[in-house]
Amino acid sequence: MDKIVVDGGRPLRGTVRASGAKNAALPLLIATLVAPGEHRLANVPALADTSTTLSLLGRLGCPSLVDGDQVRLDTSRIAFHEAPYDVVRKMRASVLVLGPMLARAGEAKVSLPGGCAIGTRPIDQHLKGLEALGCRFTLEGGYVHGKAGDLRGADFRFDMPTVTGTENVLTAAVLAQGTSVLRNCAREPEVVDLCHFLVALGARIDGIGTETLTIEGVSRLSPPTRPYRIVSDRIETGTFLVAAAITGGDVEVTDADPALLGSVIDALRSAGCTITTTPTSVRCARSGPLRPFSLVTAPFPGFPTDMQAQLMALACLAEGDSTLVETIFENRFMHAAELRRMGGRITEKGNLATVHGTGRLSGAAVMASDLRASAALVLAALAADGLSEVLRVYHLDRGYEDMVGKLRRLGARIARVSDGERDAARFQAAMDAPLLEASG
Ligand code: EPZ
Repeated sequence: MDKIVVDGGRPLRGTVRASGAKNAALPLLIATLVAPGEHRLANVPALADTSTTLSLLGRLGCPSLVDGDQVRLDTSRIAFHEAPYDVVRKMRASVLVLGPMLARAGEAKVSLPGGCAIGTRPIDQHLKGLEALGCRFTLEGGYVHGKAGDLRGADFRFDMPTVTGTENVLTAAVLAQGTSVLRNCAREPEVVDLCHFLVALGARIDGIGTETLTIEGVSRLSPPTRPYRIVSDRIETGTFLVAAAITGGDVEVTDADPALLGSVIDALRSAGCTITTTPTSVRCARSGPLRPFSLVTAPFPGFPTDMQAQLMALACLAEGDSTLVETIFENRFMHAAELRRMGGRITEKGNLATVHGTGRLSGAAVMASDLRASAALVLAALAADGLSEVLRVYHLDRGYEDMVGKLRRLGARIARVSDGERDAARFQAAMDAPLLEASG
Protein backbone atom coordinates (compact mmCIF):
# COMPACT_ATOMS: atom_id res chain seq x y z
CA MET A 1 0.00 0.00 0.00
CA ASP A 2 1.22 3.54 -0.71
CA LYS A 3 1.21 6.83 1.10
CA ILE A 4 1.79 10.37 -0.11
CA VAL A 5 4.57 12.53 1.30
CA VAL A 6 4.49 16.30 0.95
CA ASP A 7 7.00 19.01 1.79
CA GLY A 8 4.66 21.96 2.14
CA GLY A 9 4.78 25.72 2.06
CA ARG A 10 5.28 26.39 -1.69
CA PRO A 11 2.80 28.42 -3.78
CA LEU A 12 1.46 26.37 -6.67
CA ARG A 13 1.56 27.97 -10.12
CA GLY A 14 0.65 26.91 -13.64
CA THR A 15 -2.03 25.18 -15.68
CA VAL A 16 -3.66 21.78 -15.18
CA ARG A 17 -6.33 20.03 -17.27
CA ALA A 18 -9.47 18.72 -15.56
CA SER A 19 -10.23 15.06 -16.25
CA GLY A 20 -13.65 13.64 -17.06
CA ALA A 21 -16.05 13.48 -14.10
CA LYS A 22 -15.99 10.31 -11.97
CA ASN A 23 -19.62 10.86 -10.95
CA ALA A 24 -20.67 11.07 -14.60
CA ALA A 25 -18.43 8.30 -15.94
CA LEU A 26 -19.83 5.65 -13.56
CA PRO A 27 -23.56 6.16 -14.32
CA LEU A 28 -22.91 6.63 -18.07
CA LEU A 29 -20.80 3.49 -18.41
CA ILE A 30 -23.48 1.51 -16.55
CA ALA A 31 -26.30 3.11 -18.55
CA THR A 32 -24.86 1.60 -21.75
CA LEU A 33 -26.68 -1.57 -20.61
CA VAL A 34 -30.00 -0.16 -21.86
CA ALA A 35 -28.73 0.08 -25.47
CA PRO A 36 -27.38 -3.23 -26.86
CA GLY A 37 -24.32 -2.78 -29.08
CA GLU A 38 -20.87 -1.23 -29.19
CA HIS A 39 -20.45 2.02 -27.30
CA ARG A 40 -17.58 4.49 -27.45
CA LEU A 41 -17.09 6.98 -24.63
CA ALA A 42 -14.46 9.71 -24.50
CA ASN A 43 -12.91 11.76 -21.65
CA VAL A 44 -13.28 8.76 -19.32
CA PRO A 45 -11.05 9.34 -16.24
CA ALA A 46 -8.43 6.68 -15.41
CA LEU A 47 -9.57 5.93 -11.86
CA ALA A 48 -9.90 2.88 -9.63
CA ASP A 49 -13.69 3.35 -9.73
CA THR A 50 -13.65 3.33 -13.55
CA SER A 51 -11.78 0.01 -13.53
CA THR A 52 -14.18 -1.42 -10.95
CA THR A 53 -17.13 -0.37 -13.14
CA LEU A 54 -15.64 -1.92 -16.27
CA SER A 55 -14.84 -5.14 -14.42
CA LEU A 56 -18.41 -5.24 -13.09
CA LEU A 57 -19.78 -4.78 -16.64
CA GLY A 58 -17.38 -7.48 -17.80
CA ARG A 59 -18.84 -9.84 -15.19
CA LEU A 60 -22.30 -9.14 -16.57
CA GLY A 61 -21.05 -10.21 -20.01
CA CYS A 62 -20.04 -6.82 -21.48
CA PRO A 63 -16.36 -6.66 -22.49
CA SER A 64 -14.52 -3.37 -22.83
CA LEU A 65 -11.31 -1.89 -24.22
CA VAL A 66 -9.55 1.13 -22.74
CA ASP A 67 -7.27 3.32 -24.84
CA GLY A 68 -6.16 6.38 -22.86
CA ASP A 69 -9.38 8.27 -22.02
CA GLN A 70 -11.38 6.40 -24.67
CA VAL A 71 -13.47 3.36 -23.74
CA ARG A 72 -15.09 0.86 -26.13
CA LEU A 73 -17.80 -1.25 -24.48
CA ASP A 74 -19.92 -4.00 -26.00
CA THR A 75 -23.34 -4.49 -24.36
CA SER A 76 -24.81 -6.68 -27.11
CA ARG A 77 -25.19 -9.59 -24.71
CA ILE A 78 -25.97 -9.76 -20.98
CA ALA A 79 -24.95 -13.11 -19.57
CA PHE A 80 -25.42 -12.56 -15.84
CA HIS A 81 -27.65 -10.42 -13.63
CA GLU A 82 -25.62 -10.12 -10.44
CA ALA A 83 -23.48 -7.33 -8.97
CA PRO A 84 -21.60 -9.29 -6.29
CA TYR A 85 -20.64 -8.19 -2.75
CA ASP A 86 -16.92 -8.02 -3.51
CA VAL A 87 -17.60 -5.34 -6.16
CA VAL A 88 -20.35 -3.38 -4.39
CA ARG A 89 -18.39 -3.11 -1.14
CA LYS A 90 -15.59 -1.45 -3.12
CA MET A 91 -17.90 0.91 -4.95
CA ARG A 92 -21.47 1.78 -3.85
CA ALA A 93 -22.25 3.18 -7.29
CA SER A 94 -22.52 -0.45 -8.47
CA VAL A 95 -26.12 -0.21 -7.26
CA LEU A 96 -26.71 1.76 -10.49
CA VAL A 97 -26.97 -1.52 -12.42
CA LEU A 98 -30.42 -2.11 -10.88
CA GLY A 99 -32.42 0.25 -13.14
CA PRO A 100 -30.83 -0.59 -16.52
CA MET A 101 -30.72 -4.35 -15.82
CA LEU A 102 -34.39 -4.48 -14.79
CA ALA A 103 -35.40 -2.42 -17.84
CA ARG A 104 -33.26 -4.45 -20.26
CA ALA A 105 -33.34 -7.98 -18.81
CA GLY A 106 -36.22 -7.99 -16.31
CA GLU A 107 -33.96 -9.21 -13.53
CA ALA A 108 -31.14 -7.91 -11.33
CA LYS A 109 -29.43 -9.07 -8.16
CA VAL A 110 -27.26 -6.53 -6.36
CA SER A 111 -25.46 -6.78 -3.06
CA LEU A 112 -27.08 -4.24 -0.73
CA PRO A 113 -24.54 -1.46 -0.18
CA GLY A 114 -23.65 -1.11 3.51
CA GLY A 115 -23.00 2.22 5.19
CA CYS A 116 -19.78 4.08 4.50
CA ALA A 117 -17.49 6.49 6.36
CA ILE A 118 -19.65 9.52 5.55
CA GLY A 119 -23.09 8.14 6.39
CA THR A 120 -25.62 5.29 6.38
CA ARG A 121 -26.60 6.06 2.76
CA PRO A 122 -29.74 3.92 2.32
CA ILE A 123 -31.15 3.15 -1.17
CA ASP A 124 -34.85 3.18 -0.23
CA GLN A 125 -35.61 5.90 -2.80
CA HIS A 126 -33.97 3.86 -5.59
CA LEU A 127 -36.19 0.88 -4.75
CA LYS A 128 -39.37 2.94 -4.29
CA GLY A 129 -38.87 4.69 -7.63
CA LEU A 130 -38.24 1.40 -9.46
CA GLU A 131 -41.25 -0.19 -7.71
CA ALA A 132 -43.38 2.67 -9.03
CA LEU A 133 -42.37 1.54 -12.54
CA GLY A 134 -43.48 -2.02 -11.75
CA CYS A 135 -40.34 -3.70 -10.34
CA ARG A 136 -40.61 -6.07 -7.39
CA PHE A 137 -37.81 -6.59 -4.88
CA THR A 138 -36.90 -9.20 -2.29
CA LEU A 139 -34.02 -8.93 0.14
CA GLU A 140 -32.09 -12.15 0.87
CA GLY A 141 -28.58 -12.95 2.07
CA GLY A 142 -27.53 -9.32 1.84
CA TYR A 143 -28.73 -9.06 -1.75
CA VAL A 144 -31.54 -7.05 -3.32
CA HIS A 145 -33.18 -9.26 -5.92
CA GLY A 146 -35.31 -7.41 -8.45
CA LYS A 147 -37.75 -8.74 -11.03
CA ALA A 148 -39.79 -6.90 -13.60
CA GLY A 149 -42.17 -7.65 -16.46
CA ASP A 150 -42.82 -4.76 -18.87
CA LEU A 151 -42.13 -1.54 -17.03
CA ARG A 152 -44.91 1.06 -17.04
CA GLY A 153 -44.48 4.84 -16.81
CA ALA A 154 -45.37 6.36 -13.43
CA ASP A 155 -45.54 9.66 -11.55
CA PHE A 156 -43.00 9.43 -8.72
CA ARG A 157 -41.69 11.97 -6.22
CA PHE A 158 -38.37 11.46 -4.44
CA ASP A 159 -38.37 12.28 -0.71
CA MET A 160 -35.06 14.10 -1.28
CA PRO A 161 -33.04 14.98 -4.41
CA THR A 162 -30.87 11.86 -4.51
CA VAL A 163 -28.18 11.80 -7.25
CA THR A 164 -27.81 8.06 -7.91
CA GLY A 165 -31.47 7.50 -6.99
CA THR A 166 -32.53 9.84 -9.80
CA GLU A 167 -30.02 8.20 -12.16
CA ASN A 168 -31.19 4.64 -11.35
CA VAL A 169 -34.90 5.32 -11.85
CA LEU A 170 -34.36 7.53 -14.90
CA THR A 171 -32.30 4.83 -16.64
CA ALA A 172 -35.19 2.40 -16.23
CA ALA A 173 -37.96 4.86 -17.11
CA VAL A 174 -36.48 5.50 -20.59
CA LEU A 175 -37.58 1.95 -21.59
CA ALA A 176 -40.91 1.92 -19.70
CA GLN A 177 -44.18 1.96 -21.60
CA GLY A 178 -45.83 5.37 -21.51
CA THR A 179 -44.86 8.53 -19.67
CA SER A 180 -42.98 8.85 -16.40
CA VAL A 181 -42.83 12.05 -14.39
CA LEU A 182 -40.04 12.08 -11.80
CA ARG A 183 -40.31 14.89 -9.23
CA ASN A 184 -37.83 16.36 -6.75
CA CYS A 185 -34.99 14.96 -8.87
CA ALA A 186 -31.34 15.78 -8.30
CA ARG A 187 -30.09 18.50 -10.68
CA GLU A 188 -26.37 17.79 -10.44
CA PRO A 189 -24.39 18.31 -13.68
CA GLU A 190 -23.60 14.60 -13.68
CA VAL A 191 -27.35 13.81 -13.76
CA VAL A 192 -27.69 16.27 -16.63
CA ASP A 193 -24.84 14.54 -18.46
CA LEU A 194 -26.60 11.19 -18.02
CA CYS A 195 -29.79 12.70 -19.47
CA HIS A 196 -27.87 13.96 -22.51
CA PHE A 197 -26.23 10.57 -22.95
CA LEU A 198 -29.61 8.76 -22.79
CA VAL A 199 -31.03 11.19 -25.38
CA ALA A 200 -28.03 10.37 -27.59
CA LEU A 201 -29.13 6.70 -27.29
CA GLY A 202 -32.62 7.68 -28.49
CA ALA A 203 -34.41 8.39 -25.20
CA ARG A 204 -37.06 11.12 -24.85
CA ILE A 205 -36.54 13.29 -21.78
CA ASP A 206 -37.96 16.73 -21.00
CA GLY A 207 -37.01 19.05 -18.16
CA ILE A 208 -33.29 18.20 -18.22
CA GLY A 209 -31.50 20.19 -15.51
CA THR A 210 -34.73 20.86 -13.58
CA GLU A 211 -36.19 18.99 -10.59
CA THR A 212 -38.96 17.48 -12.74
CA LEU A 213 -38.02 15.04 -15.49
CA THR A 214 -40.70 13.87 -17.95
CA ILE A 215 -39.72 10.71 -19.81
CA GLU A 216 -41.57 9.29 -22.79
CA GLY A 217 -40.64 5.62 -22.80
CA VAL A 218 -39.37 4.01 -26.02
CA SER A 219 -39.16 0.34 -26.94
CA ARG A 220 -35.53 0.31 -28.08
CA LEU A 221 -32.33 2.30 -27.60
CA SER A 222 -29.06 1.99 -29.49
CA PRO A 223 -25.46 3.25 -29.16
CA PRO A 224 -24.78 6.69 -30.68
CA THR A 225 -22.82 6.75 -33.94
CA ARG A 226 -20.17 9.07 -32.50
CA PRO A 227 -18.16 8.72 -29.26
CA TYR A 228 -19.91 10.43 -26.33
CA ARG A 229 -17.68 12.88 -24.42
CA ILE A 230 -18.16 12.83 -20.64
CA VAL A 231 -18.48 16.17 -18.81
CA SER A 232 -15.39 17.45 -16.99
CA ASP A 233 -14.97 16.89 -13.26
CA ARG A 234 -16.15 19.99 -11.36
CA ILE A 235 -15.03 18.51 -8.02
CA GLU A 236 -11.51 17.83 -9.28
CA THR A 237 -11.50 21.36 -10.74
CA GLY A 238 -12.65 22.79 -7.42
CA THR A 239 -9.96 20.81 -5.60
CA PHE A 240 -7.22 22.36 -7.77
CA LEU A 241 -8.65 25.85 -7.29
CA VAL A 242 -8.38 25.29 -3.52
CA ALA A 243 -4.78 24.11 -4.05
CA ALA A 244 -3.99 27.56 -5.45
CA ALA A 245 -5.93 29.34 -2.69
CA ILE A 246 -4.43 27.34 0.21
CA THR A 247 -0.79 27.76 -0.98
CA GLY A 248 -1.16 31.42 -2.01
CA GLY A 249 -0.48 30.53 -5.64
CA ASP A 250 -2.01 30.99 -9.07
CA VAL A 251 -3.50 28.00 -10.92
CA GLU A 252 -5.60 27.78 -14.08
CA VAL A 253 -7.73 24.67 -14.64
CA THR A 254 -8.53 24.06 -18.31
CA ASP A 255 -11.26 21.86 -19.84
CA ALA A 256 -13.42 23.06 -16.95
CA ASP A 257 -16.88 24.65 -17.00
CA PRO A 258 -17.18 27.62 -14.60
CA ALA A 259 -20.99 27.40 -14.83
CA LEU A 260 -20.79 24.14 -12.85
CA LEU A 261 -18.81 25.76 -10.02
CA GLY A 262 -20.83 28.87 -9.13
CA SER A 263 -21.09 28.22 -5.39
CA VAL A 264 -17.45 27.10 -5.09
CA ILE A 265 -16.24 30.23 -6.92
CA ASP A 266 -18.39 32.39 -4.62
CA ALA A 267 -16.85 30.77 -1.54
CA LEU A 268 -13.28 31.25 -2.84
CA ARG A 269 -13.98 34.88 -3.69
CA SER A 270 -15.38 35.47 -0.21
CA ALA A 271 -12.14 33.99 1.18
CA GLY A 272 -10.14 36.64 -0.68
CA CYS A 273 -9.18 34.82 -3.90
CA THR A 274 -9.20 36.33 -7.38
CA ILE A 275 -11.14 34.11 -9.79
CA THR A 276 -11.10 34.63 -13.56
CA THR A 277 -12.99 32.45 -16.01
CA THR A 278 -13.41 31.71 -19.68
CA PRO A 279 -16.12 29.36 -21.04
CA THR A 280 -13.66 26.46 -20.71
CA SER A 281 -11.34 27.40 -17.85
CA VAL A 282 -11.21 28.71 -14.29
CA ARG A 283 -8.21 30.45 -12.72
CA CYS A 284 -7.66 31.06 -9.01
CA ALA A 285 -4.97 33.32 -7.55
CA ARG A 286 -4.34 34.53 -4.04
CA SER A 287 -1.67 36.91 -2.75
CA GLY A 288 -3.21 38.55 0.35
CA PRO A 289 -4.37 36.92 3.61
CA LEU A 290 -7.23 34.39 3.54
CA ARG A 291 -10.49 35.73 4.99
CA PRO A 292 -12.85 33.51 7.02
CA PHE A 293 -16.07 32.41 5.28
CA SER A 294 -19.29 30.50 5.87
CA LEU A 295 -20.87 27.77 3.80
CA VAL A 296 -23.78 25.34 3.94
CA THR A 297 -23.70 22.27 1.73
CA ALA A 298 -26.81 21.63 -0.38
CA PRO A 299 -27.97 19.79 -3.52
CA PHE A 300 -26.90 21.44 -6.81
CA PRO A 301 -26.82 24.37 -7.50
CA GLY A 302 -26.06 24.73 -3.78
CA PHE A 303 -22.53 24.23 -2.38
CA PRO A 304 -21.37 20.64 -3.12
CA THR A 305 -20.81 18.37 -0.13
CA ASP A 306 -17.90 16.86 -2.14
CA MET A 307 -16.02 20.15 -1.69
CA GLN A 308 -16.75 20.63 2.02
CA ALA A 309 -13.60 18.87 3.30
CA GLN A 310 -11.33 20.82 0.95
CA LEU A 311 -12.86 24.13 2.13
CA MET A 312 -12.44 23.06 5.77
CA ALA A 313 -8.70 22.65 5.12
CA LEU A 314 -8.67 26.12 3.54
CA ALA A 315 -10.49 27.62 6.53
CA CYS A 316 -7.65 26.41 8.78
CA LEU A 317 -5.34 28.84 6.93
CA ALA A 318 -7.73 31.81 7.15
CA GLU A 319 -7.33 34.49 9.80
CA GLY A 320 -10.51 34.18 11.92
CA ASP A 321 -13.61 32.01 12.39
CA SER A 322 -15.27 30.17 9.48
CA THR A 323 -18.39 28.01 9.73
CA LEU A 324 -19.28 24.96 7.64
CA VAL A 325 -22.69 23.27 7.85
CA GLU A 326 -22.99 19.78 6.33
CA THR A 327 -26.63 19.05 5.39
CA ILE A 328 -26.25 16.06 3.01
CA PHE A 329 -24.37 13.37 4.96
CA GLU A 330 -24.61 12.82 8.70
CA ASN A 331 -20.97 11.86 9.29
CA ARG A 332 -18.84 13.94 6.95
CA PHE A 333 -16.43 15.67 9.32
CA MET A 334 -14.00 12.72 9.70
CA HIS A 335 -11.19 14.88 8.24
CA ALA A 336 -11.53 17.40 11.10
CA ALA A 337 -9.68 15.16 13.57
CA GLU A 338 -6.82 14.72 11.11
CA LEU A 339 -6.64 18.46 10.41
CA ARG A 340 -6.43 18.98 14.16
CA ARG A 341 -3.33 16.78 14.11
CA MET A 342 -1.82 19.41 11.78
CA GLY A 343 -2.70 22.18 14.20
CA GLY A 344 -6.16 23.01 12.83
CA ARG A 345 -8.43 24.50 15.48
CA ILE A 346 -11.86 23.02 14.71
CA THR A 347 -14.88 22.55 16.95
CA GLU A 348 -17.88 20.45 15.90
CA LYS A 349 -21.48 20.58 17.09
CA GLY A 350 -23.78 18.24 15.21
CA ASN A 351 -23.54 19.18 11.54
CA LEU A 352 -21.87 22.54 12.26
CA ALA A 353 -18.06 22.86 12.24
CA THR A 354 -16.43 26.10 13.36
CA VAL A 355 -12.84 26.59 12.21
CA HIS A 356 -10.75 29.08 14.22
CA GLY A 357 -8.25 29.86 11.48
CA THR A 358 -4.72 30.76 12.61
CA GLY A 359 -3.11 31.26 9.22
CA ARG A 360 -0.85 28.22 9.48
CA LEU A 361 -0.67 24.42 9.73
CA SER A 362 2.29 22.19 10.55
CA GLY A 363 3.24 18.97 8.78
CA ALA A 364 2.19 15.64 10.39
CA ALA A 365 1.28 12.04 9.56
CA VAL A 366 -2.45 11.86 8.87
CA MET A 367 -4.94 9.19 7.75
CA ALA A 368 -7.57 9.51 5.03
CA SER A 369 -11.06 8.13 5.81
CA ASP A 370 -12.74 8.69 2.44
CA LEU A 371 -12.16 10.13 -1.03
CA ARG A 372 -12.71 13.85 -0.40
CA ALA A 373 -11.15 13.74 3.07
CA SER A 374 -7.97 12.40 1.43
CA ALA A 375 -7.95 15.31 -1.04
CA ALA A 376 -8.40 17.78 1.84
CA LEU A 377 -5.45 16.28 3.74
CA VAL A 378 -3.20 16.53 0.67
CA LEU A 379 -4.24 20.21 0.27
CA ALA A 380 -3.54 20.90 3.95
CA ALA A 381 -0.12 19.24 3.60
CA LEU A 382 0.70 21.47 0.59
CA ALA A 383 0.18 24.55 2.81
CA ALA A 384 1.66 23.16 6.03
CA ASP A 385 5.17 23.96 7.26
CA GLY A 386 7.42 20.94 6.92
CA LEU A 387 6.82 17.32 6.00
CA SER A 388 3.49 15.47 6.01
CA GLU A 389 2.54 11.87 5.28
CA VAL A 390 -0.98 11.09 4.05
CA LEU A 391 -1.89 7.46 4.63
CA ARG A 392 -4.57 5.28 2.96
CA VAL A 393 -4.29 7.06 -0.38
CA TYR A 394 -6.24 4.27 -2.07
CA HIS A 395 -9.22 6.49 -1.30
CA LEU A 396 -7.70 9.19 -3.51
CA ASP A 397 -7.11 6.79 -6.40
CA ARG A 398 -10.82 6.15 -6.56
CA GLY A 399 -11.61 9.70 -7.65
CA TYR A 400 -8.52 11.68 -8.70
CA GLU A 401 -6.56 10.90 -11.88
CA ASP A 402 -2.77 11.23 -11.36
CA MET A 403 -3.17 13.78 -8.57
CA VAL A 404 0.51 13.59 -7.54
CA GLY A 405 1.70 14.13 -11.14
CA LYS A 406 -0.67 17.06 -11.68
CA LEU A 407 0.40 18.73 -8.41
CA ARG A 408 4.10 18.17 -9.22
CA ARG A 409 3.61 19.97 -12.54
CA LEU A 410 2.26 22.92 -10.54
CA GLY A 411 5.45 23.04 -8.45
CA ALA A 412 4.46 20.96 -5.42
CA ARG A 413 7.08 18.91 -3.56
CA ILE A 414 5.09 15.69 -3.35
CA ALA A 415 5.64 12.00 -4.01
CA ARG A 416 4.06 8.61 -3.59
CA VAL A 417 6.08 6.11 -1.58
CA SER A 418 5.41 2.73 -0.14
CA ASP A 419 3.57 2.78 3.16
CA GLY A 420 6.47 1.13 5.00
CA GLU A 421 8.97 3.81 4.04
CA ARG A 422 10.06 5.80 7.12
CA ASP A 423 13.28 7.47 5.99
CA ALA A 424 12.83 11.25 5.48
CA ALA A 425 15.89 11.38 3.22
CA ARG A 426 14.23 8.87 0.93
CA PHE A 427 11.08 10.99 0.94
CA GLN A 428 13.16 13.94 -0.26
CA ALA A 429 14.78 11.73 -2.90
CA ALA A 430 11.35 10.61 -4.13
CA MET A 431 10.18 14.24 -4.31
CA ASP A 432 13.33 15.18 -6.25
CA ALA A 433 13.02 12.20 -8.60
CA PRO A 434 11.88 12.84 -12.18
CA LEU A 435 8.06 13.02 -12.35
CA LEU A 436 7.32 9.62 -13.85
CA GLU A 437 9.08 7.88 -11.04
CA ALA A 438 7.55 10.07 -8.37
CA SER A 439 3.92 9.59 -9.46
CA GLY A 440 4.67 5.84 -9.62
C1 EPZ B 1 -23.71 10.97 -5.07
O1 EPZ B 1 -23.88 9.98 -4.05
C2 EPZ B 1 -22.20 11.06 -5.33
N1 EPZ B 1 -21.71 9.77 -5.77
C3 EPZ B 1 -21.50 11.48 -4.04
O2 EPZ B 1 -20.11 11.66 -4.32
C4 EPZ B 1 -22.05 12.80 -3.57
O3 EPZ B 1 -21.50 13.13 -2.33
C5 EPZ B 1 -23.59 12.71 -3.43
O4 EPZ B 1 -24.19 12.24 -4.64
C6 EPZ B 1 -24.21 14.05 -3.08
O5 EPZ B 1 -23.88 15.01 -4.03
C7 EPZ B 1 -21.88 9.43 -7.08
O6 EPZ B 1 -22.46 10.13 -7.88
C8 EPZ B 1 -21.33 8.10 -7.49
P1 EPZ B 1 -27.45 10.98 -2.68
P2 EPZ B 1 -25.34 9.40 -3.72
O7 EPZ B 1 -28.29 9.80 -2.96
O8 EPZ B 1 -26.15 9.36 -4.96
C9 EPZ B 1 -30.01 10.22 1.29
C10 EPZ B 1 -17.78 11.45 -4.02
O9 EPZ B 1 -17.03 11.87 -3.14
N2 EPZ B 1 -30.66 9.11 0.57
O10 EPZ B 1 -27.66 12.18 -3.49
O11 EPZ B 1 -25.15 8.16 -2.96
C11 EPZ B 1 -28.53 9.97 1.55
O12 EPZ B 1 -28.31 9.17 2.67
C12 EPZ B 1 -19.14 10.84 -3.64
O13 EPZ B 1 -17.52 11.47 -5.24
C13 EPZ B 1 -31.64 8.37 1.20
O14 EPZ B 1 -31.95 8.60 2.36
O15 EPZ B 1 -25.91 10.53 -2.75
C14 EPZ B 1 -27.98 11.38 1.68
O16 EPZ B 1 -28.17 11.82 2.97
C15 EPZ B 1 -19.33 10.72 -2.17
N3 EPZ B 1 -32.22 7.36 0.52
C16 EPZ B 1 -28.84 12.16 0.70
O17 EPZ B 1 -30.03 11.38 0.47
C17 EPZ B 1 -31.88 7.06 -0.78
O18 EPZ B 1 -32.44 6.11 -1.37
C18 EPZ B 1 -28.19 12.46 -0.65
O19 EPZ B 1 -27.56 11.31 -1.12
C19 EPZ B 1 -30.89 7.82 -1.41
C20 EPZ B 1 -30.29 8.86 -0.71
